[in-house]
Amino acid sequence: MQIVTDIATLFANVEAWRKAGDVIALVPTMGALHRGHLTLVEEAKKRGTRVVVSIFVNPTQFGPNEDLAAYPRQEEEDAAKLRAAGVDLLWLPSVATMYPVGFATTISVAGVTTGFCGASRPGHFDGVSTVVAKLFNQVRPDCALFGEKDYQQLAVIRRMARDLNIAVDVLGVPTVREADGLALSSRNAYLTATERAEAVALPQALGAAKAGLEAGEPVAAVLERAVQGLLTAGFSAVDYFALADAVTLDVLDRLDRPARLLAAARIGKARLIDNIAVAPQI
Ligand code: PAJ
Repeated sequence: MQIVTDIATLFANVEAWRKAGDVIALVPTMGALHRGHLTLVEEAKKRGTRVVVSIFVNPTQFGPNEDLAAYPRQEEEDAAKLRAAGVDLLWLPSVATMYPVGFATTISVAGVTTGFCGASRPGHFDGVSTVVAKLFNQVRPDCALFGEKDYQQLAVIRRMARDLNIAVDVLGVPTVREADGLALSSRNAYLTATERAEAVALPQALGAAKAGLEAGEPVAAVLERAVQGLLTAGFSAVDYFALADAVTLDVLDRLDRPARLLAAARIGKARLIDNIAVAPQI
């Protein structure tokens, strides 16, 4: 596996692969890699003949009071995991390479960014869409893989690629979970043992709400019960717990189309997000 830190070397590599007829699959990450990320890599290997993984802790997607400085960084461990997984190239740009002096462009997707994490993390999705557009232009992959774990992010990137005619297949991969149901996340490292045990209430609340909705219970009552359940279980705040259209992310007060339950809640130093598909009743 090559580890590349400058754009010229990256271009030379991917250009040679393209000329040779390779299919290039990209997995963008911020590092601190876990089984969720490695599942995206496995999927990428099925989709492409060359796999590029990027690790870049993107400062522009962190708010002023968020965890940019504390975000876990473990490049050597990450590189070893990617090498073992059979990745061809690790793209590891510095902040100065990604955002050279004078950098002045922002990509801002409207609509799908309005609610949920877009509302509780102003500017977050501008940072995500701008850096992902740059990664698409730098690597020019045939396809790129993203986790359903960050469901709104996946919707934003799909929208951006479509709107800007970026010829990259954006592929979603189901959320990888611990045995008890907690979604794998680099931010789980912030949890104490007690908080970790309490955190399982989040996937449980989503599962219970899905069951209630699919059994025909009223949406408002189901959502209210879920929020109260999380607060009782040890979460300090619930940023949102909502039912949304699976594609547009418009908030739904009736389950009348394919939908997604989306949740973000705070426990200890962590803000955890998770989501689950909900099928409309026929
Ligand atoms: P990061 O949080 O490192 O996640 C990288 C990718 O791994 C994302 O597509 C995310 O959805 C996926 N992922 C994380 N946990 C997962 C899990 N438990 N199961 C399946 N997939 C999982 O998301 C980002 O980085 C950044 O915003 C990025 C897209 C790289 C732009 O900076």
